[in-house]
Amino acid sequence: MPDSLSRRQLLTRAGAAGAALSIGGLIPSPRALATFGNLGGYPFVSGVASGDPGPDRVVLWTRLALDALGETPLPARRVPVAWEIADDERMRRVRRSGLALSDPARDHSIHVDLAGLLPGREYWYRFYAGGEASPVGRTRTAPAFGKSPQALRFCFVSCSQFEHGYFTAYKRIVEDDPAFLIHTGDYIYEYGTDVYKAPGGNVRHHVGGEIVTLADYRRRYGQYHTDADLLEARRLIPFITTPDDHEVENNYAAGISEQDLEPDQDPAVFFRRRTAAYEAYAEWMPMRDAQVRPDGSLRLFRELPMGDLCDVVVGDTRQFRTDQPCDDEFNSNCAGMTDPAATLPGLPQERWLVDRLARSRSRWNILAQQVQMAQQDFVEGPGEGYNTDSWDGYKESRRRVLSGIQRARVRNPVVLTGDVHQHYAADLKVDFTDPQAPVVASEFVGTSISSGGDGNDAVRSGALSENPWIKYNANRRGYVRIDMSRAELRADLQILPYVSRPDALAATGAAFVIEDGRPGLQPA
Ligand SMILES: [Fe+2]
Repeated sequence: MPDSLSRRQLLTRAGAAGAALSIGGLIPSPRALATFGNLGGYPFVSGVASGDPGPDRVVLWTRLALDALGETPLPARRVPVAWEIADDERMRRVRRSGLALSDPARDHSIHVDLAGLLPGREYWYRFYAGGEASPVGRTRTAPAFGKSPQALRFCFVSCSQFEHGYFTAYKRIVEDDPAFLIHTGDYIYEYGTDVYKAPGGNVRHHVGGEIVTLADYRRRYGQYHTDADLLEARRLIPFITTPDDHEVENNYAAGISEQDLEPDQDPAVFFRRRTAAYEAYAEWMPMRDAQVRPDGSLRLFRELPMGDLCDVVVGDTRQFRTDQPCDDEFNSNCAGMTDPAATLPGLPQERWLVDRLARSRSRWNILAQQVQMAQQDFVEGPGEGYNTDSWDGYKESRRRVLSGIQRARVRNPVVLTGDVHQHYAADLKVDFTDPQAPVVASEFVGTSISSGGDGNDAVRSGALSENPWIKYNANRRGYVRIDMSRAELRADLQILPYVSRPDALAATGAAFVIEDGRPGLQPA
């Protein structure tokens, strides 16, 4: 009877889920407790999710809500929410169960950081509240420490602009059955209705103006989670997420706003906005340690080992960066780009990234982060112009990270990136201007899920000729699928012919392999 926990277990588990519970005498099962009280409707319209898989643990997530945009109020009190995790989809062999209490201050989001699971295993889970049961979700734990899995598949995505198109990429990813999915940012966009228009026109429309307050950000997440393909991917695949800029505001840098809404440039105004944005992100993402700290920061950079086959290191290039050089003018070339004091991840995280990768004993070392690391001159012919919001605006910071990786002889480093709404595959060097410089790592930039609309089949003029380390570019929407074995890593850059209508089929735009111990991309 896995439901009948001792009172002590119940208290411990409720405490572990972030809330203490006091029950006088009687010991009802968590599930029975969660059947008390009618919440006035079905409370699981936000679905379920899981994330940050470890060998013995995973975060289980849900959020109580009676409608997508949060217009129907929930009780302004804590609500008991029971959870169960089982070996099977029909929830017959329940392995663990427990009770959490929702918190109205956290918009009734629930994060159960559940430890004590078996490694490399599929599990199924479900929540109960207000007499209702959630959909049954599926999750997977990571391979055991030191274990050597023969193969691992995962996918990575970025940039899901709700107005620009349907999130069909998630549907195709579910069909690929990856062990997990990495989202490297721009999970939502902050703009008001139709402010950011796709070239072919917007096919859906944001509710409300530019989002600024906590209520605004929460409602925007609610609207994005009306996309059935997103809900289904969250239900069936563990997510590993890190935000970029649009979860807060376009091109913000640490505490510095782009200042389109803050004409008085009062940093306190932007700090309040950023804190609200981080709070809503933490509420909605199935991430570990999903709490905004008293100083307004969010713990985002972290490591997720997958046995000794692969380490996933997740970076945060937004929260600690110095301000963009050249007044953040796209296509610039100014002295600030080579300022040694400039840093993209912040100096402590720069050191952490290099140290962490240097300590890795895994065969493949994945750095999942937000903005393009490969140098890219956007000016065809003479003259140079760079995206100063990317690593090109922080060239010395990039040099420190890449030369640190080179010095430490990190085994098979591979950078995964989002942000620019196009696929790129590139080799990375400490000095891109030196044709003799060895390849240190490779980078796959995944195109957007929907941002930019349908796109086209043109290769951006000059992308490859001006930047010989860039091997591929495509302006379609989609995702990247990674298949690792002990001998090679293969990346399939997946492309959808359209996102302006649902249900497009995916095709492989290009595929590359990296062989173990042999730096550099090779056509698959
Ligand atoms: Fe984006």
